[in-house]
Amino acid sequence: MENNNQYITDHFKRPLKDLRISVTDQCNFRCTYCMPAEIFDKDYPFLTKNELLSFDEIVRLAEIFAGLGTEKIRITGGEPLLRKDLDQLIARLYQIDGIKDIALTTNAVLLTKKAAKLKAAGLNRVNVSLDAIEDEEFGKINGRGTGSQPVLKGIEAAMKAGLQVKVNMVVKKGLNDTQVLPMAKYFKGKDVILRFIEFMDVGNHNGWNMETVMSKKDIIDQIHQEMPLTAVEANYYGEVASRYRYVDGGGEIGVISSVTDSFCSSCTRIRLSAEGKLYTCLFASQGHDIRKIMRDEVSDNQLMMEIISIWSRRKDRYSDERKEGKPLKRKKIEMSYIGG
Ligand code: GTP
Ligand code: 5AD
Ligand code: SF4
Ligand code: SF4
Repeated sequence: MENNNQYITDHFKRPLKDLRISVTDQCNFRCTYCMPAEIFDKDYPFLTKNELLSFDEIVRLAEIFAGLGTEKIRITGGEPLLRKDLDQLIARLYQIDGIKDIALTTNAVLLTKKAAKLKAAGLNRVNVSLDAIEDEEFGKINGRGTGSQPVLKGIEAAMKAGLQVKVNMVVKKGLNDTQVLPMAKYFKGKDVILRFIEFMDVGNHNGWNMETVMSKKDIIDQIHQEMPLTAVEANYYGEVASRYRYVDGGGEIGVISSVTDSFCSSCTRIRLSAEGKLYTCLFASQGHDIRKIMRDEVSDNQLMMEIISIWSRRKDRYSDERKEGKPLKRKKIEMSYIGG
């Protein structure tokens, strides 16, 4: 899929390369740091069906983004596999001129059933969230008492279907930092890239403070002591993970260090929420209501002008500002609403 399209840049000259599309705000897990069960209970005001963007609306927007230089689409949630007929959406996104990569971020529980269909529709790869390998630990974190087996089975199914797999482990001190080594050992040599994510202050309910962050340095040092590592160059401009490989040929790991080593200067991502709000940063307080504009029956050209206007005004660099010690108290969107 070639891209002869124009591309646009924001206030800091960052191009718009990646579109992250959340397709639902629901999830079958209740990870304590993301959707604590006591807050996300049966009374929580999840989006209604009519509030969600339809597949037609999502495809229309994705076509406009591709025309502005977007090459990569990531489907997120909540848990995106809870959205009915997701493979049909992927098949339509796959047809769009200029889109080179379609990926999915998922907890993998539903992948055993769905991996083959998703691959056939045009999905390239999946990033699977798994925060512990030991059942008891993982059951506590996901808030549903589910062990790691259903996730590992999902990963296996994805690999069998020909999807590339990365595993994301959020590391929160005092919660699962003892799982760093067991996870590294488990995935070493398995053709899966395990990425450790520094715990971030996203959302409003996860009790973040600096003491809860295990730094990239500490994560790498801990693994390196037992299984020597060497740093590897980034795959592409704007990749969020720093890469390392095992010296003995056991494969690759990554660390996403948005807290201790932020990467805003190369941030090429825009996020579309399941109800059609556009966010220019994961830590934004407010989105741009593109659904409202779309449902007012505007032309594609008007929609495109609106998107250009939003991106060209963009000045977000939240994680850099946090690192610089700027006071950052603000109300933020929930991780499960925007999909990370
Ligand atoms: P790849 O395309 O495989 O590199 O995926 P990705 O790392 O961009 O996406 P994924 O959904 O797997 O995200 C992994 C972690 O990185 C999540 O915790 C995200 O919230 C975090 N992340 C991704 N993009 C950004 C970003 O722009 N800013 C910050 N602060 N974190 C991000
Ligand atoms: N900090 C870092 N990563 C997080 N995720 C969810 N909440 C946080 C947080 N506070 C991760 C999920 C998933 C990815 C999209 O974001 O575990 O892997
Ligand atoms: Fe669901 Fe992922 Fe949030 Fe866990 S981190 S509750 S799997 S959306
Ligand atoms: Fe991009 Fe905002 Fe993350 Fe910085 S904090 S990398 S601007 S999403």
